Amino acid sequence: MSKNMNLVRAEMGDAEFRRFSDMIQRELGIKMPPTKKVLLQSRFQKRLRALGMSTYKEYCDYVFSDAGREAERQHMVDVVTTNTTHFFREPKHFDILTNKVLPEFWRTIGSSREIRIWSAGCSSGEEPYTLGMVLSDFAEKHNGFKFSITATDISFQILQRARNAVYPLEKADEIPQQYKKKYLLKSKDPKKPLMKIDKKVRDRVSFKQINFMDDFRMDQKMDIIFCRNVVIYFDRPTQEVLFDKFCNFIRTDGYLFIGHSESLSGMRLPIKQMAPTVFKRLP
Ligand SMILES: C[S@@+](CC[C@H](N)C(=O)[O-])C[C@H]1O[C@@H](n2cnc3c(N)ncnc32)[C@H](O)[C@@H]1O
Repeated sequence: MSKNMNLVRAEMGDAEFRRFSDMIQRELGIKMPPTKKVLLQSRFQKRLRALGMSTYKEYCDYVFSDAGREAERQHMVDVVTTNTTHFFREPKHFDILTNKVLPEFWRTIGSSREIRIWSAGCSSGEEPYTLGMVLSDFAEKHNGFKFSITATDISFQILQRARNAVYPLEKADEIPQQYKKKYLLKSKDPKKPLMKIDKKVRDRVSFKQINFMDDFRMDQKMDIIFCRNVVIYFDRPTQEVLFDKFCNFIRTDGYLFIGHSESLSGMRLPIKQMAPTVFKRLP
């Protein structure tokens, strides 16, 4: 029987699962209840194969060894994180941005300084590039409006894809016509149905690797933070610590946008609710 056949039949023991799940929760913040054992097992399979290992015990011992800890950490992140995302995901947020938040900043800040936005947990780039399109469009209509976007994620691999800014052409369907015309470049080769985000939007976005479980810092305060569909994988105390930290990074009267399936209710944070998942930083 081939080694790969052995791998497919290998099962993760409860002791190994506990060691992995404790580490994932502690170091990445991501909840790993026992119901996730089969999922974790199947996601680790390709690592076992790549390393030529035939049991999860062998892999577990390697991951917790001095040699394996560093070497395997990034792979662990890449297999454990969920990166689902779309352009203009939860479109109401971008309406609020265009019709309320940006006009408000334009009235109060004008061209005196740039507006700083953070896409926290940006995955493959669809969220920061959506922000880039919406703000570039606003800047075209408001002479002197300046902005920059910082996009961060824990996963090195997903950040590489985001920096590339190349997507399957079918993803253009997620983007409203008015932005599609201005900010997308389509491949001329019919055999390669791809599109690339235009340089004028790409140039406004800078990418950086940040793990929210680390003691991270930002060099300047933000006007707007988008942290959507990231903390759903964290437990409530971890969420509260993280949002409190985010509040320290937002200027007074700045905004926090969270995902539609997330909630800050019951958390003691210096913010007031402006719309169901949109909050304003209090003085
Ligand atoms: C489902 S995606 C959300 C993408 C985008 N914000 C959206 O709403 O479409 C969640 C992202 O959070 C990232 N993530 C998970 N745990 C993280 C952590 N501890 N620190 C930073 N990012 C993390 C994942 O790598 C993933 O790309």
